[in-house]
Amino acid sequence: MELIKTVEEMAALGAKLRAANTKVGIVPTMGYLHEGHLALAKEAVANNDVVVMSIFVNPIQFGPTEDLDQYPRDLAGDMAKAESVGVDYVFAPQPADMYPAGYATSVDMKIVTESLCGASRPGHFQGVCAVIIKLFNLVQPTNAYFGQKDGQQLAVIRRLAADLNMPVKINGVPIVREADGLAKSSRNVYLDADCRSQAVVLNQSLQVAKRMYDAGERDAGLIKAAVRAHIETAPLAEVEYVELVDALTMQPVLRPESQVMLALAVRFKTTRLIDNILLGEDD
Ligand code: PAF
Repeated sequence: MELIKTVEEMAALGAKLRAANTKVGIVPTMGYLHEGHLALAKEAVANNDVVVMSIFVNPIQFGPTEDLDQYPRDLAGDMAKAESVGVDYVFAPQPADMYPAGYATSVDMKIVTESLCGASRPGHFQGVCAVIIKLFNLVQPTNAYFGQKDGQQLAVIRRLAADLNMPVKINGVPIVREADGLAKSSRNVYLDADCRSQAVVLNQSLQVAKRMYDAGERDAGLIKAAVRAHIETAPLAEVEYVELVDALTMQPVLRPESQVMLALAVRFKTTRLIDNILLGEDD
């Protein structure tokens, strides 16, 4: 496996692979890899000739009061993990190389970015969209892999690729969970023992929603209230949102008809966790 540290080298490699008609998979990450990231990488390795994993804590997707400086980083550990699952190249640029003096572009997307995390993290998805366009332009991938854990991000990137006719297939990969159901996340390391044990209510509450939906309940208000009530059995949980949204537009629905996503964001002390479940048929 090779480490690529500069935008210039990455652009040259991307162009060379494209000229040779190589099927390239990209796995964009912010590092501090866990089983969820490795599931994306394994899927990419199984379906492409060459796999590039980017490891870049993207400063422009963090708000001024968010955890950019504290975000966990471990490039050496990440390199070993990426290599163990067959990644060919890790692209780990410096922020000043990705955003040199004079950088001025922002990507504005309506509707899909406006609810859920987009409402509580202004500017977040503009930053995600900008870095994804830059990574796609540098790597020129055939396939890109994103986790369903960040369900709104996946919907935003699908919309971005479709709207801008990007020649890349966006592949969603199911959420990977700990044995007790907590979704794997780089931010789980912030949880102290009490928060960690109480965080199991997130996945449990999604299962409450699934049982209600499977039993025929279609009143979004009742489903959301039951989910919230279950989360609130954990004394340290502070609900930021519980929403039932259309799986493509991320707009709230009152009575689910096509596929919907029950999405939640909950704080345990200073740690903000998100999780979601898809309900209903994909049509
Ligand atoms: O999901 C993430 O880790 C990031 O938002 C991404 C997609 C790598 C863009 O910085």
